[in-house]
Amino acid sequence: MAQGRAAPGTDPSDAFVFFGATGDLAYKKIFPALQSMILRGGLTVPVIGVAKSGWSLEQLRERARSSLAEHGGGVDEAAFARLAALLKYIDGDYADPATFEALRQALGGARRPAHYLAIPPSLFGSVVQSLAQSGCAAGARVVIEKPFGHDLASARALNATLHSVFAERSIFRIDHYLGKEAVENLLFFRFANTFLEPIWNRHYVDSVQITMAEAFGVQGRGKFYDETGAIRDVVQNHLLQVVGYLAMEPPISLYPDSVRDEQVKVFRSIPPLKPENLVRGQFRGYTKEPGVAPGSTVETFAALRLEIDSWRWDGVPFFIRAGKSLPLTATEVVVDLKRPPLSTLSPQESNSFRFRLGPQIAIAISARIKKPGPEMVSMPVALAAVDNSAGDEVGAYERLLTDAMRGDATLFVREDAVEAAWAIVDPILGDATPVHPYDPGTWGPAEADRLTAGCEGWRNPAKDP
Ligand code: BG6
Repeated sequence: MAQGRAAPGTDPSDAFVFFGATGDLAYKKIFPALQSMILRGGLTVPVIGVAKSGWSLEQLRERARSSLAEHGGGVDEAAFARLAALLKYIDGDYADPATFEALRQALGGARRPAHYLAIPPSLFGSVVQSLAQSGCAAGARVVIEKPFGHDLASARALNATLHSVFAERSIFRIDHYLGKEAVENLLFFRFANTFLEPIWNRHYVDSVQITMAEAFGVQGRGKFYDETGAIRDVVQNHLLQVVGYLAMEPPISLYPDSVRDEQVKVFRSIPPLKPENLVRGQFRGYTKEPGVAPGSTVETFAALRLEIDSWRWDGVPFFIRAGKSLPLTATEVVVDLKRPPLSTLSPQESNSFRFRLGPQIAIAISARIKKPGPEMVSMPVALAAVDNSAGDEVGAYERLLTDAMRGDATLFVREDAVEAAWAIVDPILGDATPVHPYDPGTWGPAEADRLTAGCEGWRNPAKDP
């Protein structure tokens, strides 16, 4: 074992350290999650922010307050007072050993700190080495955010960097989709309902499609987005995770890695994508966004068709579509079943299951019933359960940070899953295919329609769930 490599065990973390304390991620996600953890879970351990901003602790407290007001659903004064009392701040350069010495001091007797690296991935290498050299990595956990690399080779290099200091069981890679209630509900709906599992296979399922539509553009993140594009930003991670939950075999038991074992089996049975099964688009006006290179060919829309080479899914197409500046914001899964015989009973539509994953949560089954009247014809009816209240991202981060601090890695992306997911998209990254323009507020370039030929076509989510 490398020096400072985290020891096994699931004792709760006794300190929470976040690098990038004055940055965007901390502002939008971490402070709100900490307030919720205090309110619901009784977070009582030291919370240590690290950054190089020349700030004082008082300034960080003020930053926390405005973060809660803007992104945390408001400041709960009692919770804020507790958070402010737990908060410590270390101002220093990540390249300076003195910063980590100060962290070591601030950690006091903590034996299992959780270090959240809310910083650019290019800094991970030096920060994890400094954590090890200063003794701050001993017994510790490390939490990181996507992107986990920008292709298969860089993901492997990133994993090697992390593993030079931390054991895999101490690494918690956040894909916030795995913290969403609606995404977890896919697993529950599948495996908790006797009626579903017998038909959830190639004998009954005709096709599966996942649409992640966003009505907004790149929202001031032009520079990041132009180095990323839709495939790297949301397909390789969030949407393949959704495929994993939709397609996996039942977890063999409740041992901690059983769900992750099944997830990675799905990814490994998806052949690497071919350029002919991908259509990329870019909304008109994208290249005028601040931070975007003139003449950029980065995609803001991707539609693709993949197959899963498994006993259960052989021959069933899975369609994925993700785009910015589409007509509305909704992430939705539609699972179309094959048609029954006797076409008069079911003339146009087959049955389908629809899962709205965000911003609202809904599960709807489209069934057919007899149309009232003398004729023997059918009509569609939707059996739906809708929950408008959930789906918040603070909830996802609260859940994930709580789990990481408890040492429960079920909802985090394991090394083998990250690499298997990159292996799927690696051949279609960059300019492997042309990029087609589309008008903002439309469903992307018409070229995407050829992917669903032979199936029911793309199902555009409706405004209401
Ligand atoms: C992020 C992407 O990971 O997920 C964003 O970087 C995207 O581009 C966001 O908008 C979507 O998350 P959600 O939870 O709003 O669907």
